[in-house]
Amino acid sequence: MTSARVIDLVSRMTPDEKLGQLQIIFRPRPDDAAALVRRGLGAVFWPRSSAATNALQRVAVEETRLGIPLLVGLDVVHGQRTIAPVPLAQAATFDPPLVEALAALAAAEARSGGATMTFSPMVDVSRDPRWGRVVEGFGEDVHLTATMGRAMVRGYQGDDLSAPGAIAATVKHFVAYGQPEGGRDYNAVDASPHRLRNVHLESFRAAVDAGAAAVMASFNTVAGVPMHANHTLLTGVLKEEWGFAGVVVGDADGVRNLLPHRVAADLADAVRLAYDAGLDIEMGGAPWDLDPADLAVIDPARLDDAVARVLSLKEALGVFDTPYVDEHAEITTPDAASRALARRAAARATVLLRNDGTLPLKAPRHLLLTGPYAESTDHLGAWTQSFGAPAGSIADALRERLPQTEVRVAGGTGFFDGSDDDISAARAAAQECDVVVVCVGEPSTLTGEAASRSDLRLPGRQEDLIRAVAGTGIPIVVVLENGRPLVVADWIDDVSAVLEAWQAAAAIVDVLLGAVNPAGRLPMSFPRSVGQVPIDYAHETTGRPATVRGSLAAESQDIGLHGPDNVQEKFTSKYLDLDLGPQFAFGHGTGYATFAHAAPQLSRPTITLGELEAGGTLTVSVEVANTAERAGDEVVQVYVEDLVASIAPPVRRLVAFDRRTLDPDETHRFSFALGREQLGFWLTDAATARFVVEPGVFRLHVGSTLESTQAVELVVE
Ligand code: NOJ
Repeated sequence: MTSARVIDLVSRMTPDEKLGQLQIIFRPRPDDAAALVRRGLGAVFWPRSSAATNALQRVAVEETRLGIPLLVGLDVVHGQRTIAPVPLAQAATFDPPLVEALAALAAAEARSGGATMTFSPMVDVSRDPRWGRVVEGFGEDVHLTATMGRAMVRGYQGDDLSAPGAIAATVKHFVAYGQPEGGRDYNAVDASPHRLRNVHLESFRAAVDAGAAAVMASFNTVAGVPMHANHTLLTGVLKEEWGFAGVVVGDADGVRNLLPHRVAADLADAVRLAYDAGLDIEMGGAPWDLDPADLAVIDPARLDDAVARVLSLKEALGVFDTPYVDEHAEITTPDAASRALARRAAARATVLLRNDGTLPLKAPRHLLLTGPYAESTDHLGAWTQSFGAPAGSIADALRERLPQTEVRVAGGTGFFDGSDDDISAARAAAQECDVVVVCVGEPSTLTGEAASRSDLRLPGRQEDLIRAVAGTGIPIVVVLENGRPLVVADWIDDVSAVLEAWQAAAAIVDVLLGAVNPAGRLPMSFPRSVGQVPIDYAHETTGRPATVRGSLAAESQDIGLHGPDNVQEKFTSKYLDLDLGPQFAFGHGTGYATFAHAAPQLSRPTITLGELEAGGTLTVSVEVANTAERAGDEVVQVYVEDLVASIAPPVRRLVAFDRRTLDPDETHRFSFALGREQLGFWLTDAATARFVVEPGVFRLHVGSTLESTQAVELVVE
């Protein structure tokens, strides 16, 4: 419902004032910003202090005819002052309340500086690790992405956008941006209605349901139609079908990009197409670059609708009544509690990929630290504000925590360079130590926007370094800091333990030393070769499935497990030159504790369609005992396998998960409610989409990872 204030304002605005509200200018210089605001600019991308933001707000409120305050947007992606792990790492925590808490902290810090809107979360499901932006999202899985996206929206916005610590969330990039052809950023997407509904739209639907204030259009085309001009999806699905009453924001120059996309003849055409399609705020200032004679290109009713949406958001944020922030209350330095939260998150995000018992480190007398991340203080990852404080180094932390150990550092290689002599020196040093910790990965410049890679191995000579020290026979621990799944096939079998630490090093030492027991799970599969990409565990069935001999029932298709015992049949879906499955599947991760799972149980073996339609649920549960002598977290995952459906179903689909700490000998029953949402899927044809549950048998796979699930069957009648 549009308020009386907004209706009144819209009725009094000139066309130029209206257009001013419908654009956000990206990082203007302060003088330019004031001039733009005097002209009536409604929104600004403005990574500045509370004082500078208040000063600009003052221009909007005191020096413009209608005194409409500004919307102040920023990419607060994984923290403002306190830098949390990158979103992909946050997904690896499998801990939505933690993700919500991190977003709430980021919101409080950002709002205290005057920002009212963040361009986050990114909920693009992606199965292509070549795409550098996977670091900004929650990985390959629809349910995990939707759950984490919802948690972030709740964290940023709270219950009341006008509360001091709340900011408007922008879910992005609508839609299917995570499936660019060739994994190349900004490239075309050709997603069928089936794929759109069942994969790409779901996480946006969840975020919109959670009340996300804004949605950002993506740079890509979908079936030839650039998203900034896509009426079917922006208006048809998002605004009309889902009833989204918030603001659709364009991505940077996405409207101008309609020209090189060759769907607009000139800027006026591009602006018209975008607003007709359902855009509300353009990013970059294209409308004001129009020739005044062309200003009428936007349909007047559409113009008023877009302006009303923007003003309603400002009203919800409370900026009409409280346009300024208290400059004395600006949070400029993370306090101890914020640091502790970020460190806890970083530790919970680590995924122990393999371990022969070398970890946790047992107070070695001589430890060699090598690799480009050994002494680096840059562990923050892509997309941090310039004022994010650098983290400490792994070397310093190890020295502090292991006073009895001689911690030697032999750099070995850089990210991209390294001579034979450097590598030989590291190898020689390794021979004099009890254990070697190799800290390798990608620098943050290799991840994020416009950072696609065609090679997923460690860059430079880092693999040579690992192999050189591994050749000594000394136990080797590899710590990976990266923003995407990597191909590790050429060295993984030569080392004792591998810890995936993403780009969040603050807590790595806690995990290496066993102060924290790792229990993160992979949010994306690690391929064994770049040729397998795109890769995901939830791929659709094929009519010619290949199976890993001996380890799976014949009807269980390749579900992300792999085995060297290649497929039995010639005419099956496989590569001739590669064993089946990824290196590590989605959901993989181990830890220092061990758990025993009883057989999963259903609260009832059958449920009727009528009950499901009426909101009925049943419960699947499993009793888990910690059989270790130390406390640890178990992550229980529930996957659905639909045995017969009217369309080829995914071979498995995550529908629920939970992470809990269990003390030694503690037993806990993990329970999950399953209903229509978990058992159904979207049926699409060219024009319509409907969510259905079909009768039949469903196998529920419950366990700690895809490799270790146990099944129970459910009948929907
Ligand atoms: C382009 C990116 O695609 C988007 O995610 C970001 O929010 C904007 N630039 C603004 O920085």
